[in-house]
Amino acid sequence: MGKLYKAYLLSYHPEIMEDRQFMDCIADLFNTPEIQGLEKFEQHLLINRLQHITSVSYLSFRICRKLRWDWHTAARGGILHDLFYYDWRENDRSHRPHGYLHPGFALKNARELCGALDRKTENIIIRHMWPLTPIPPRYKEAFIVSLADKYCASRELYVSLSKKYRIRFYKSIGLTE
Ligand SMILES: [Fe+2]
Ligand SMILES: [Fe+2]
Repeated sequence: MGKLYKAYLLSYHPEIMEDRQFMDCIADLFNTPEIQGLEKFEQHLLINRLQHITSVSYLSFRICRKLRWDWHTAARGGILHDLFYYDWRENDRSHRPHGYLHPGFALKNARELCGALDRKTENIIIRHMWPLTPIPPRYKEAFIVSLADKYCASRELYVSLSKKYRIRFYKSIGLTE
């Protein structure tokens, strides 16, 4: 099993809540009702948005720590990158096209949640859909979060596409269908 996949699976495990270095980066955000409330939005089948942002944040943290980059901002940006409060699959014109619009919604909500944000965190949020949105991230940590997001989204998508993968994956993260 690759290191990245191992870290991804670990992101579903309650053990990461005891990782002091990770939790020191995100705890103040993670325990807010705004972030915890993302649990009610489905991302892919049994995987909800709170789990998705936790995975993206944890992978970004691990990669940036390994590279000795700014893992603190990467972890926080990962938590905030999909902070929008609607079901993206609903056919509601106010949030279509979702892929293009939701980084802006997330940035607005993140500013409301945190007050002022630093430039790097803002860039992580607003550019995470690159290259769908054509302007690339400005910071290396924003690239990492954008890549971690794609990695996690692909893993989550497999869950919807392959029953065989889904059964194996749910078992490895302690979920039953
Ligand atoms: Fe997103
Ligand atoms: Fe995402």
